[in-house]
Amino acid sequence: MARLLITGGAGFIGSHTCVVLLEAGHDLVVLDDFSNSSPVALERVQELAGRSLELVRGDLRDPVLLEQVFASADAAGAPIEAVIHFAGLKAVGESVAQPLRYWDVNVAGSRALLSTMDAHGCRTLVFSSSATLYGYPETVPIPETAPVQPINPYGHTKASVERMLADLAASAPDAWRIACLRYFNPVGAHPSGRIGEDPNGIPNNLFPFVSQVAIGRRQRLSVFGGDWPTPDGSGVRDYIHVMDLAEGHRAALDALLGDRPQLLTLNLGSGVGASVLEVVRAFEAASGRAVPYEVVDRRPGDAAITVADPSLAAERLGWRTQRSLADMCRDGWAWQSANPQGYQGAS
Ligand code: NAD
Ligand code: UD1
Repeated sequence: MARLLITGGAGFIGSHTCVVLLEAGHDLVVLDDFSNSSPVALERVQELAGRSLELVRGDLRDPVLLEQVFASADAAGAPIEAVIHFAGLKAVGESVAQPLRYWDVNVAGSRALLSTMDAHGCRTLVFSSSATLYGYPETVPIPETAPVQPINPYGHTKASVERMLADLAASAPDAWRIACLRYFNPVGAHPSGRIGEDPNGIPNNLFPFVSQVAIGRRQRLSVFGGDWPTPDGSGVRDYIHVMDLAEGHRAALDALLGDRPQLLTLNLGSGVGASVLEVVRAFEAASGRAVPYEVVDRRPGDAAITVADPSLAAERLGWRTQRSLADMCRDGWAWQSANPQGYQGAS
């Protein structure tokens, strides 16, 4: 079992991954500034796992704080052995409006982290990358060898961190163990309904929007385009249950720690596409609530279909998704119905 630093561990994917890692017996230090999350999530993570974790509240870009985290772990005789790096900004539209903020948090923040890791001889990292860096994919399902051609600042920051990591790995190939995990569309929640996705304001993404319509927080879903070249005309995506994704991180960490130094770049997706209208129907079935919708114009920047080729992750990690779209909707509804306002007001 290892002592791990989890940046952004209070967020949507981080919180679910913390549960899985605590249950696997790892000791966790979470670094989060709560700019897009709540401390309540971490209380519930500990309650679910039945174990505690150490919390450092602060900004990833603060080199003094990073130094303190690694130095105090060293001094306690329990050095940080690996880092799972979730902390970052992720809203595409916001990245177009505020590109420097995205370059600062996502790229400069990652650089600061890597420098401190290197200085302390911690050279094992799992990085949250994104399928967004494929832009408009030329082949579907998308293999990892597909061209990296981001179409927005958010995607460029993810591609740049991957580039930085490749350069670093090449500079000391016998030292670094790195996994860049390119997530497709993470959705759903822990089956307990105690932790889940808690977006600020109006959700940009389909799944939280649909669940807020089902609970009555929003009137109706706008379906962005009914004339895509897909079977029912709505956009198709590769939705992945957040617990499958969390288990993918555990598998990636095990692979890195148990093998020679290497750089792994892997898609984490199911390999199965679902359309917007299929998601609406599955959510209605899981929740027993109606999800009214209207078809409107396409959203700029959208692709018709993005689906992962997940075979490399299966081969290298022995990992594949286990949960269906119905499971994603059932667990997402368990979270939404028990926490209609997310973590706000919860204790
Ligand atoms: P999230 O916003 O829920 O979690 C990110 C966490 O990082 C939050 O707890 C936030 O408070 C923290 N954070 C942000 N800036 C920080 C800073 N400067 N210092 C310290 N903490 C900071 O997002 P998520 O959905 O859990 O995504 C996690 C990672 O996965 C991100 O890097 C994101 O880009 C990537 N990703 C997410 C998706 C998705 O659909 N959710 C898809 C692909 C990739
Ligand atoms: C979006 C981002 C992508 C990011 C991903 C996960 C864009 C263009 N892409 O991807 O970079 O990595 O989120 O955070 O923003 N839809 C509706 N109505 C809605 C919302 C979405 O019909 O209110 C449709 C979309 O057109 C798409 C599907 O639902 O066909 C999924 O959308 P979304 O959840 O936003 O994910 P992506 O578009 O895959």
